[in-house]
Amino acid sequence: MTDPGHLVDELVTELPGWLPSQRWFAGKDRPVTAVRPLGATVLIDGDPQLLHVVVEVIQGDRQEPYQLLVGRRSHPPEIASSSWIGADGGLNFYEASGDADLTALLLDKIVAQGRVGPLVFEHEPGAELTGGLRARPITSEQSNTSLVYGGQYILKLFRKLSPGLNKDLLLHRALQTAGCEHIAEVVGSITGELAGEPTTIGMLQVYLPDAVDGWAMATTSVRDLMAESELHPEELGGDFAGEAERLGTAVAKVHADLASALGTEPVDADELDRTVKAMADRLDEVAHAVPELAEHVPALRASFDAVRELPPGSSPISMQYVHGDLHLGQVLRTVGGWLLLDFEGEPAAPVAERHALRSPLRDVAGMLRSFDYAAQQLLVGQPDDPALTERALEWARRNRAAFCEGYALGAAAPLGDPREHGELLRAFELDKAVYEVAYEHANRPDWLAVPLAAIARITHGGE
Ligand SMILES: Nc1ncnc2c1ncn2[C@@H]1O[C@H](COP(=O)(O)OP(=O)(O)O)[C@@H](O)[C@H]1O
Ligand SMILES: [Mg+2]
Repeated sequence: MTDPGHLVDELVTELPGWLPSQRWFAGKDRPVTAVRPLGATVLIDGDPQLLHVVVEVIQGDRQEPYQLLVGRRSHPPEIASSSWIGADGGLNFYEASGDADLTALLLDKIVAQGRVGPLVFEHEPGAELTGGLRARPITSEQSNTSLVYGGQYILKLFRKLSPGLNKDLLLHRALQTAGCEHIAEVVGSITGELAGEPTTIGMLQVYLPDAVDGWAMATTSVRDLMAESELHPEELGGDFAGEAERLGTAVAKVHADLASALGTEPVDADELDRTVKAMADRLDEVAHAVPELAEHVPALRASFDAVRELPPGSSPISMQYVHGDLHLGQVLRTVGGWLLLDFEGEPAAPVAERHALRSPLRDVAGMLRSFDYAAQQLLVGQPDDPALTERALEWARRNRAAFCEGYALGAAAPLGDPREHGELLRAFELDKAVYEVAYEHANRPDWLAVPLAAIARITHGGE
């Protein structure tokens, strides 16, 4: 077998310049100082050649492992120009997740089960899979790379790796064992090795070709409303409230299944203290960077402190595993109902935090903020129009309420209707909006008005 050493040396020399142009690369905030190889496995030898490579990306004092598929062949594949990385041995090499001739092997290995060097390919017990399918990468915005095989399966290759079992896979398996109907079935996985620990690098799920994502559905409904200035949301053909209610029920059922499968812990005063401190710390940090937030700081602080003052034991809400990054872009509407995707948690959060038990109200707050975003997105960058703004708010109020009503129907006791936990829910929403302020300030200044307006509204007793 060819020694991949030389190719890997060339690869790590090119990666500091190449990584920042990749959508999934999470370290765009700082320059890449160096890239160090951690492991390389030859999956296909000769011409073409396919390597699985794990590298450590060094950015000052931050070091993070990433995985890559690297292809090299004399007959060039049809791939995006951004995939080409460099040249070695007279041939160009490239990120190979878009090379269907080479990626077919990954599914076939999962079907056959077995090991190649440190990589273990497995299907879930009892899963009956079809191999021999070609893959195309999905093009929607993503923090990982997902390949769709023949419209039947979707293989997510986690880009940034953390040692151990990936939370997305852990929670999907737990939900599947609990018989949860609101996830796409997991049928296989790929495990590598990192820091001496078996580490999830890929997850294979059943692909739903006819599914529509929640963001697309919700924003279509908003567009209908804006076009029909005479009608109220409930009079529209494209009213979303029925869907919002069913989505609420689906989220509540997922929470109930996660709690029964993986357990809960009671919330004590220390926990509330820690939660409030984390919110206040984030507020300080963001207010420092974004001057527009300054006028809201006292009211935000008061809302967070109100949580600390809840009488001990008054919160019936336990801590448990939750989704961690729930919004309309992470849910799919299928003929059989709503599915939740992507249980990895907030991409920017450290792994320990993503694995921490959280209040299910955090997920509810994430979805409620997403309804506000969906309602406002057509107005971003437009001249102020109070009538349209009022219609957007009306849409958001109606769908937020429907979501909470649906949640109450599916929730296990004692959670019930999330609006019964007003102070805590409000604090989670405001904390999320503070996070959005930081994100929009750094990435999309036009959108900054969306979370700022929400903060002003919520701290003045609105929703
Ligand atoms: N089982 C599935 N069926 C159909 N589409 C899917 C499925 N799983 C994921 N997708 C699509 O792929 C996108 C990215 O998936 P996701 O799990 O959220 O990955 P990422 O971690 O990259 O955000 C989703 O937004 C959805 O459009
Ligand atoms: Mg996602």
